[in-house]
Amino acid sequence: MDYKVTVHTTSVTNATNAITFTDVFIKLVGTEGESDRTRLLNPRGTTSFHSGAVSSFTVSYHTSLGKLFLIEVDQQDTPDNPEHAWFPARVEVKSPDGETYHFPIHRRIIDSEVQCFRERTALKFSEETQSVCLFHRVKEKNHRMDDYRWEVYADGIPQCMKVLDTGSLPSEVQFSWTRDIEFKLTAAASLIELKLEGLANCKKTWKNLDALDNVFCSPFVFLSDYVQQNWKEDEFFAYQFLNGVNPMVIRRCTVLPENFPVTDDMLSLCEGSLADEMQRGNIFLSDYKNLDGLDSNVINGKKQYLMAPLVLLHKTPEDKLMPVAIQLKQTPADDNPVFFPDDEYDWLMAKIFVRSADYNEHQLNFHLLRTHLLAEVFSVSLLRNVPMVHPLYKLLIPHTRYTLQINFLARKNLISKDGVFNQIAAAGGNALIPLLQRSMSSLTYSSLCIKEDIAERGLESVPNFYYRDDGVRLWDIIYRFVHGVISHFYNNDAEVQEDCELQRWILDIFEHGFLSQAETGIPYRFLTVAELIKFVTMVIFTCSAQHSAVNNGQYDYSAWMPNAPSSLQLPPPTTKGTTNEATMLKTLPDINTTVNGMATLWLLSKHYYDFVQLGRYPEEHFSEETPRRLIREFQGELEQLSKDVRKRNKNMGMPYKYLDPTEFENSVGI
Ligand code: FE2
Repeated sequence: MDYKVTVHTTSVTNATNAITFTDVFIKLVGTEGESDRTRLLNPRGTTSFHSGAVSSFTVSYHTSLGKLFLIEVDQQDTPDNPEHAWFPARVEVKSPDGETYHFPIHRRIIDSEVQCFRERTALKFSEETQSVCLFHRVKEKNHRMDDYRWEVYADGIPQCMKVLDTGSLPSEVQFSWTRDIEFKLTAAASLIELKLEGLANCKKTWKNLDALDNVFCSPFVFLSDYVQQNWKEDEFFAYQFLNGVNPMVIRRCTVLPENFPVTDDMLSLCEGSLADEMQRGNIFLSDYKNLDGLDSNVINGKKQYLMAPLVLLHKTPEDKLMPVAIQLKQTPADDNPVFFPDDEYDWLMAKIFVRSADYNEHQLNFHLLRTHLLAEVFSVSLLRNVPMVHPLYKLLIPHTRYTLQINFLARKNLISKDGVFNQIAAAGGNALIPLLQRSMSSLTYSSLCIKEDIAERGLESVPNFYYRDDGVRLWDIIYRFVHGVISHFYNNDAEVQEDCELQRWILDIFEHGFLSQAETGIPYRFLTVAELIKFVTMVIFTCSAQHSAVNNGQYDYSAWMPNAPSSLQLPPPTTKGTTNEATMLKTLPDINTTVNGMATLWLLSKHYYDFVQLGRYPEEHFSEETPRRLIREFQGELEQLSKDVRKRNKNMGMPYKYLDPTEFENSVGI
């Protein structure tokens, strides 16, 4: 009996792949028996397993092996080339009776141990019929439990993966060779690309905005030019609460907070009293109380200032959102005045302090915690608890790509003691962990589900709110896809309740990500198919769309530093009429802080060569027709959304493209 074995080696993933010479052995295991361990030989010889190679071989056995369900693969170093890594993508086996079996691998093989890979058909634990498969299922999970261990980075925040350096990450989750090189080159070259080298160590303040303009070469991103032209405008200031990189703070205001003593005689709302306008739903509030009382950072030897502002906004009859009052500290006091648009330079200074507060709240709470750290929790739990053959693994593994490595790099290079964030941001240093811990206290399940979050913030009917419009459509598209896939594999609630691997996945997320805080609303077990569908939708949305919404516009909105100062060096005005341009320039960050911030934003906003957009699954983990059809439908819906977004954006000065599905990845990878 001849079995035709076709081996696909992954393309362009590792430089050493191109020179791999290796002996590969395979054993086929089926319901009626198993073949001998057979060396794969074909006329192409040593090139059979080169990067991108597709090579076919014959494995013969004296009788039929029945239905194939597993292969064992090993590779032995040849004396000529002992150091290499072979990165097979998948193996296909065509049996003598014409049946083709697919075995996904997608893993770099670096030693000569025998590895087992299951046939692609998705199977839950309870559906296993072969004792040998159960044995390998348990072995795979035990192996992964060793590879992926939880670690406490700091008390009171989600746990992360224990890893010493990027080289010790399991090969299956490392950056590809191209991503690794490109990332390192961009990191090293961003100051040069932005023509900012020479300024990175200059601790002087900016002499004037023209000097900043002179170094602000943004040949790559025209949107940042728009920001430069409009950053002082009230309308643009308000627009960013809805459609900037942090659309997560603003909410409808129906009762003015007691610590924000704004009265009618202070405002000029020609449409009626503040109470009337609140009742009509036309008043909004952005409250940065999360930042109150933090011990702000010291940069270039100087204490920095981080406010906890309250911003009142009004929707005009022309459907424009406009800021009407700003108080920079939480406690009302004579030296904490409420600023108004006619306060001229004081008003501009107040807006700058708000933008700086927003930068810090955005980076740590809404970007790092609620996308990066959560995505890591979802990923580590998946890899620890759910084997490759499980339908949940097949559905979610593309949404974990590169997350573990980028988060390791963020901990090492951004938020560590000597990391960039601690060098440039007011919420760096002693404030960083306390801010993350506080942010955890408002982290609820519903705040991660965009429709509930928008409803909870009272923003369903706000006009020109593209984050909401595109985000809700995306949520629904992802939901329909997940609903189809999950419903295909789970016929009823009992099947969900009895799936021990699935239940272990959510319990690990509950315990290690949400620190067993039941009040977050995060489930610790799934009782119904519907609960599972919603949670998986949230996971995919968070790892893809939500991350893009808070990540991909960073350079556009924040590269022109005065629009988003990472830190401020003087306290805000305590009385009116005391500020001018000189005060502003002394308050804005130093030159080195500015340019290092710009370079980091450039690195984090870049599109990378091996970008995989939402809904593209080149690894083809599913065999079954239903999920494969659902993937095609998912892609079709995403395409239509992209067309609609592009059409709308055509006539906009500041197009909202961060939730255009062609513009962002499946996973948190940057
Ligand atoms: Fe990010």
